[in-house]
Amino acid sequence: MYTTKILSLFIIASLLLFSCSSQDITPLPDQNFNLGWLFAKGDKPTAMQINYDDTDWRKLNLPHDWAIEGPFDSQYNARTGGLPVHGKGWYRKHFKIDPQHKWKYISIAFEGAMNNTKVYLNGELVGERPFGYIGFEFDLTPHINFEGDNVLAVALAPEDLASRWYSGAGIYRDVHLKINNPIHVAQWGTFITTPEITNQEAKVHVQTTLKNTTEGNETINLVSIVKDENVVVTTENKEVNLKANSDNVVVTDLRIAAPKLWDVEAPNLYQLETQVWQGDTMVDVYHSSFGVRTIAFHAQNGFQLNGKRVDFKGVCMHHDLGPLGAAVNYRATERQMEIMKAMGVNAIRTSHNPPSSALLEICDRMGLLVIDEAFDEWQIGKVPNGYNKVFDQWHERDLRDMIKRDRNHPSVIMWSIGNEILEQGRKEGWKVAKMLNDICHDEDNTRPTTAGFNYYPASFDNQLAMQIDVVGLNYKPNGYIDAKTKHPDMILYGSETSSQTSSRGVYDLPITGELTNTDLQVSSYDVINGPPWAYPPDVEFDTQAANPYLLGEFMWTGFDYLGEPTPYGGRDNSTNGYWNDDWPSHASYFAPVDLVGLPKDRFYLYQSQWTTAPMVHVLPHWNWEGKEGQQIPVFAYTNAEEVELFVNGKSYGKKRKGVDITKIPAEYKGFPKGDYETKYRLRWDVPYTPGSLKVVAYTNGNVVAEKEIKTAAKASNLKLEADRNAINADGLDLSFITVSVVDANGTLVPKANNLVQFRIEGDGALAAVGNGDSASLESFQVPFIKAFSGKAVLIVKGNGQVGEIKITASSQGLEDEIITIKTE
Ligand code: GAL
Repeated sequence: MYTTKILSLFIIASLLLFSCSSQDITPLPDQNFNLGWLFAKGDKPTAMQINYDDTDWRKLNLPHDWAIEGPFDSQYNARTGGLPVHGKGWYRKHFKIDPQHKWKYISIAFEGAMNNTKVYLNGELVGERPFGYIGFEFDLTPHINFEGDNVLAVALAPEDLASRWYSGAGIYRDVHLKINNPIHVAQWGTFITTPEITNQEAKVHVQTTLKNTTEGNETINLVSIVKDENVVVTTENKEVNLKANSDNVVVTDLRIAAPKLWDVEAPNLYQLETQVWQGDTMVDVYHSSFGVRTIAFHAQNGFQLNGKRVDFKGVCMHHDLGPLGAAVNYRATERQMEIMKAMGVNAIRTSHNPPSSALLEICDRMGLLVIDEAFDEWQIGKVPNGYNKVFDQWHERDLRDMIKRDRNHPSVIMWSIGNEILEQGRKEGWKVAKMLNDICHDEDNTRPTTAGFNYYPASFDNQLAMQIDVVGLNYKPNGYIDAKTKHPDMILYGSETSSQTSSRGVYDLPITGELTNTDLQVSSYDVINGPPWAYPPDVEFDTQAANPYLLGEFMWTGFDYLGEPTPYGGRDNSTNGYWNDDWPSHASYFAPVDLVGLPKDRFYLYQSQWTTAPMVHVLPHWNWEGKEGQQIPVFAYTNAEEVELFVNGKSYGKKRKGVDITKIPAEYKGFPKGDYETKYRLRWDVPYTPGSLKVVAYTNGNVVAEKEIKTAAKASNLKLEADRNAINADGLDLSFITVSVVDANGTLVPKANNLVQFRIEGDGALAAVGNGDSASLESFQVPFIKAFSGKAVLIVKGNGQVGEIKITASSQGLEDEIITIKTE
């Protein structure tokens, strides 16, 4: 697994770093440079100096997000999570480099730091980068002290009101130290495309950028080796002359016989090993991964992968990992994607910024398609301190770097140059779009560009939308038809859809279509919509089905995220940009999955539409004390033909999907309030009697799925369920343990909010806790939390030791419960 790889690379690199004989030119793998940093918050104008006294600074390892440490406070903007994202922060790292590396090219690569980063080595500024979502590499060579201590100092200065969501703060992605021979493959130095593919053969075209940092021209041999799971498939050897002191681009063509295609069903990956030889000595080796696949976009026939139509069952995703914050964690990202896949998702839009490399690796491996998005703002800002402040100076570099970093990923199918860019409404807005579009095509002519438009008539009128290849409309189910009528050749999809809101396990009666909840939650009957542009998922399902020229949709959003607590907060944002009207509400309600990864009912509504393995879901819970005999609306979601509802064994009849229509209140301005007729939800109104609520789904008259909810008695126990009972001991791998408050029979107590305490013993530690309540101010970093709608999630990690983590959950008045997780 990836985490093990990092650890072993680190060990190998450390050995090589300190034990090579002099003039050894064995290529060194990039050294993971995450361990052993010092950190302090605050304005420290001299902290870049080598002799600065940092003895009382906090020791930590990267990636690190200082904002997630909290505390939540209403002095911080709820729109950015109600957490301390802004302010200054410093990181320092002391290190030594063996004098034998004196003649080498030594650089430091950050995968991302939030933000306004300045990097100093031994007191000298080596580089700066304002954008928080982009990777960057700086040359350290001239400033290295080979005889003693080196100090790398990193100053960050994220500003208040700089984002429309939680950005995190700190060096929140991995850092690598690179010790290269003077001739080596440059950063993101391979660009691999497969321009010709048949069943018999695929042509692999590689553009390799080689850095020659020496004063003279040098002749080298470039050996390119394609491997399939470590077995060599094909090799090419080229002798080239590299110009002194420059980057040299070398083109190589290889052929793979009977190529295994990369597909959403079978995401086959190949590896390219690039070796650089000077005479008999290999001076660099560089690894890339790629896929063989074709993509095509048609105005009438949708998106085609390898010649077959694939409709986007997509979600937009912000980058935070809930209680873990913005600090990148491979396993937490992988779990998010696993949950999305279980819902039926096949595509991700990285709204609204370049994602972590981990996300793209995972999407490559899992067969998820990706829209890689660069910006939420161009020259016109949406918040007082947004990217627009640096757009003119940095957009080209940032966009080129995003594409250079990501263009070998087969999962990436489009470059998005922006989301709801305000230039849509400006006469000259098209010029910026054209410039960005040209940059994308210059860096990569194999993928189309796109953007998400919310003012589509304006962006068509001013020709901005015409500058890009594939047009995404945000929240315009009625707009597709209008756009298509006016522009039949336009390739269209829903870049953002629905924006329905809800809270896991919360149900308000009667169902009114209004926001009736008084405790900052939203009912999971999923008929109430947050912002004025929102509409229930059903509308997009119908619209996509009725307009087969559409490529599909990207629902807002796959996971709840920190910040943007719509439909709460935000009403005074015209005055000061703060969204604290409804404090403590501070996180999203938009997603079918909550902040800790627990599914809401809407997860199953999407699953019923996007998956084929038989499933049925029933809502609400069945604990309506005081409402005995009253009618309770019961909904079932299924991908089967029919569902029969039973209460305490008594049948309330079968309903047929597609035939029995349910009316749900809907607020979207495109249709009359209160009467959207959906064929995706089956509804019964049944008198409440405690006991059992059961749905049975049938296809062709056969039972294919069942689900039963029981009325819970008094809370008496805790239940612990881990997503993985064995994890890597490395401290990076995670186990997510769901704790449920249950009665003596193990039935979930649906409104339980008991405080649960965790004792973590043995070979592990707390990574975070959370409960998915977007209005909870509880810390993510202590071993206790209240259950929300009966549940919470504890995240644990290993401590480097192979063994066992023992977790005891306890809560006043309830039986203790124990679970053990192996660390390997
Ligand atoms: C869109 C925007 C997203 C998010 C969403 C909430 O207009 O692009 O970033 O704010 O609304 O509904």
